[in-house]
Amino acid sequence: MKVHEDWMKPSLKEAQKRTDQQAAIEKSLFNIPFEARNIGCGRKYFLRTYGCQANERDGETIAGILEELGFEQCHTPEEADFILLNTCAVRKNAEDKVLGELGSLKRLRKTNPDLLFGMCGCMAQEEEIVDTIIKKYPHVDLVFGTHNIHRLPILLYQAMMAREKTIEVYSKEGEVIENLPVKRFGTHKAWVNIMYGCDKFCTYCIVPYTRGKERSRTVEDILDEVRELKAEGFKEVTLLGQNVNSYGKDLQLVGGFAGLLEEVAKIGIPRIRFTTSHPWDFTDEMIDVIARYDNIMPFIHLPVQSGSNEILKIMGRRYTVEQYRTLFDKIVSKIPGVGFSTDIIVGFPNETDEQFQKTLELVDYCQFDNAFTFIYSPRAGTPAAAMADNVSLEVKQDRLNELMEHTNRYARLKNEAYAGRVVKVLVDGPSKKNERVYSGYTETNKLVNFTADQLIQPGDIVEVQITDVKTWSLDGEAIKSE
Ligand code: SAH
Ligand code: SF4
Ligand code: F3S
Repeated sequence: MKVHEDWMKPSLKEAQKRTDQQAAIEKSLFNIPFEARNIGCGRKYFLRTYGCQANERDGETIAGILEELGFEQCHTPEEADFILLNTCAVRKNAEDKVLGELGSLKRLRKTNPDLLFGMCGCMAQEEEIVDTIIKKYPHVDLVFGTHNIHRLPILLYQAMMAREKTIEVYSKEGEVIENLPVKRFGTHKAWVNIMYGCDKFCTYCIVPYTRGKERSRTVEDILDEVRELKAEGFKEVTLLGQNVNSYGKDLQLVGGFAGLLEEVAKIGIPRIRFTTSHPWDFTDEMIDVIARYDNIMPFIHLPVQSGSNEILKIMGRRYTVEQYRTLFDKIVSKIPGVGFSTDIIVGFPNETDEQFQKTLELVDYCQFDNAFTFIYSPRAGTPAAAMADNVSLEVKQDRLNELMEHTNRYARLKNEAYAGRVVKVLVDGPSKKNERVYSGYTETNKLVNFTADQLIQPGDIVEVQITDVKTWSLDGEAIKSE
């Protein structure tokens, strides 16, 4: 394979910069150049996405583009002509998984010499990773980033037809592109981007570097998408942003996220969720709107990260434990039956035992329905990665275990409160383990496995009586379908 001279590699320094310039909204930027038309005909692609919902949604755009090029999706790498890993950079173990996978998939070249390997997503935005790919994974033919997904047709043409190793990663975000294709992977639940990027720069986090500055879509474009999804029969939308509370600030929109949420609710799609909302700028208006509309689900992911004010300060989270508790209590008092999940990091540089105990105290106070718990992972280029750290990995692991004992206990306790209750479940389909058992989620995002006498379809909303509770799910029997 010939080596291309014009590789465009990412720079974290560039990615860190922010300007006040508003991103342009582009309605027609995406197109398929003549030479790339139909390059996928008769070929299959295997796409694997890692990381958060924003990345999942990008995967749907990528699949949409590939299918416009004529590719057909396949579900095992062995069948594929093009293998693409859409990656996550948030922690080292996420990256290790991808690098391991890239290494092990290489063997497939032996049986299919024309097989093309691609990598995209957040890891592609990291200088170090791209250098590693070039040096140690020479079988990777195509690397592109989160800001130039729209360039996929021409990049793929270059890598596949011209057989040139192609690396093109923009360090900086560009326009908000509205005419990208999409292949939805869900049949009744859909992701809807409301904004891209993040400007919070929490000191441990790579996302502001891999996703660029905050850019909002217009209210009309978002509402059009939700209306279309409703017309297509979708039952649930999840509005996506790294911090949805910032929605519209870059466009100087008056109503902000609360205004948008209300407009989305009025469309009348049965279930609306959103993620992620930052505790720092969660407004009273947002709480009021969530409380007022039955179709906005009473479930909030409210990442706290730590229960120590000292650590929160060094993390750059912009709130104190007291402010978090006040917000938490306000939400509980205004939204009946609300459920909460959170994210927590243990072992931040120099975290003391006392500081860790504060995190446990906060968990005891909030009793989250669910908590995603992580050991701090240094990310190159972030301020925290440059901090000396006196906490051993062993101590971090012990803290994680202790924290998980607490969070699991509350997950179970919260589920126990559901015993005997009747809940509304949006049905995903027959459960993975047993075809005669259906599974779906309650309004508060609890997984329910249930039996039913009547015929039930994915996308139905069914009333279920809870008969048994477990730590991670509820069991029940259907009462009647709506
Ligand atoms: N925008 C979202 C978070 C996206 S990343 C928010 O602010 O809530 C998801 C979670 O990964 C974060 O909430 C944090 O708990 C965790 N995380 C991010 N960077 C990390 C790091 N360097 N090490 C460990 N966990 C990290
Ligand atoms: Fe990362 Fe903080 Fe932005 Fe969330 S708000 S994506 S944790 S920088
Ligand atoms: Fe991972 Fe990028 Fe999402 S780093 S968490 S895929 S924004």
